[in-house]
Amino acid sequence: MSNRMQLPVKLLKEGTDTSQGIPQIVSNINACQVIGEAIKTTLGPRGLDKMIIDQREKCHISNDGATILQLLDIVHPAAKTLVDIAKSQDAEIGDGTTSVTLLACEFMTAMKRYVEDGVHPQLIIRAIRKSSQLAVERINELCAKIGNEGNKRETLIKCAATAMSSKLIAANKEFFSNMVVDAVLSIEQDILPLEMIGIKKVPGGALEESRLIQGVAFKKTFSYAGFEMQEKVKTSPTIALLNVELELKAEKENAEVRVTNVNDYQAVVDAEWDILYEKLEAIHKSGADIVLSKLPIGDVATQYFADRNMFCAGRVPEIDLKRTMKACGGAIVSSTSNLNENQLGSCATFIEEKIGGERFNLFEGCPKAKTCTMILRGGAEQFLEETERSLHDAIMIVRRACKSDRVVAGGGAIEMELSKYLRDHSRTIKGKEQMLMNAYAKALEIIPQQLCDNAGFDSTHMLNKLRKAHAEGEIWAGVDVQKEGVSNNYEAFVW
Ligand SMILES: Nc1ncnc2c1ncn2[C@@H]1O[C@H](COP(=O)(O)OP(=O)(O)OP(=O)(O)O)[C@@H](O)[C@H]1O
Ligand SMILES: [Mg+2]
Repeated sequence: MSNRMQLPVKLLKEGTDTSQGIPQIVSNINACQVIGEAIKTTLGPRGLDKMIIDQREKCHISNDGATILQLLDIVHPAAKTLVDIAKSQDAEIGDGTTSVTLLACEFMTAMKRYVEDGVHPQLIIRAIRKSSQLAVERINELCAKIGNEGNKRETLIKCAATAMSSKLIAANKEFFSNMVVDAVLSIEQDILPLEMIGIKKVPGGALEESRLIQGVAFKKTFSYAGFEMQEKVKTSPTIALLNVELELKAEKENAEVRVTNVNDYQAVVDAEWDILYEKLEAIHKSGADIVLSKLPIGDVATQYFADRNMFCAGRVPEIDLKRTMKACGGAIVSSTSNLNENQLGSCATFIEEKIGGERFNLFEGCPKAKTCTMILRGGAEQFLEETERSLHDAIMIVRRACKSDRVVAGGGAIEMELSKYLRDHSRTIKGKEQMLMNAYAKALEIIPQQLCDNAGFDSTHMLNKLRKAHAEGEIWAGVDVQKEGVSNNYEAFVW
């Protein structure tokens, strides 16, 4: 009995990590550093892509910071916050996910020394906050207005090209930046709704065979006999959008019905047919030329529509059906009983077209909302997926450039300038805070440094050149990855 009373009191579950204080902070920083190491080689136009095999043995190839971090399946709680940083950057801005993660890691690495030396974390945090605030203020002073001067389209194309220059599709960036800008300019300019740009992938063919369709497009859905008799081209059709099943159910799927003779059974089957025909007649009466349903459209219905010169597609993915509704108007209805012309959408032309090995339903000239669909062609599946991600980055950047007309130069230029500014500023303050701000300023240099490392340049030498240029007042001096030198990246359009 007395023995038991001497047992140590355990509040936490067996195996709980009880480390705390400075060693814990340091170990958290170490974990984050590992992440930084893992993704830093993907930064910039000369960065490498990562190949990641996930738990389901699926292979992914990507250069996108957020995608890589997500796939890495990180378990360390501190390191996980980095994944969140990348994710929120991805959601808000779409691009720059590698940069934010790398910067966060570098700030922590820079502060590790001071944590180990026993500088109070609160002091460190205050210095970081102050430095960030100064940096943001400085960016606001420095940023250039691209405004209305020059050709807006040209400007946007350059922005898209920069976002793509660090990706697999960099070789085709001229082609794709035109496409991205066309896509963004073709949707509603006030709100620029991202969901109105659809992206569809069709394996096979060359990248340059990718195309932009001014309207909604989706793959031909599963169809039954009778479908081939339907007309695949229509001018100004009306479109019914349904969430209704138009299929005779196999009897076994129905609720159990016990019948004792053949006549009763026939009655059940007849009732089924009646219900279906009622629905079909209602749709026909509404005046719809095209019937799209989220749910299956069976063989009887397909034949019925074919006989009445209507076109139908069942099992349309919800996202496509919604986009069709937004673009063509009308409503997605769950019952056909009150279907009328007010619930129908319309468009200028409908056509079924073969793109690569796939048949696509195209709805062009949509009256309600402007929308467009990018159809991507290309070799391997992983390649297409990465193309989609890269286009997403570029679309987000062009969208941002449409909304805000202020830019700074990239390729490490803005980071070097901020670094210089903070170093200068730190001289005006005293004590530990000066040291910490200096460390923060130094950490900003990770971006140009890594851009050089990834390009195989001597980063020490390049950083010296960059520091010198910025000291001499060249605010947009950044890394020139083509010529292995320092150039005015604002003029080089690396924005
Ligand atoms: N032509 C170029 N010359 C020099 N630097 C460039 C050039 N194009 C892009 N950069 C720089 O490369 C960096 C962006 O690299 P990258 O696109 O790989 O990462 P990210 O944008 O931070 O993250 P992600 O694109 O993965 O979301 C930026 O600092 C940008 O200024
Ligand atoms: Mg990028």
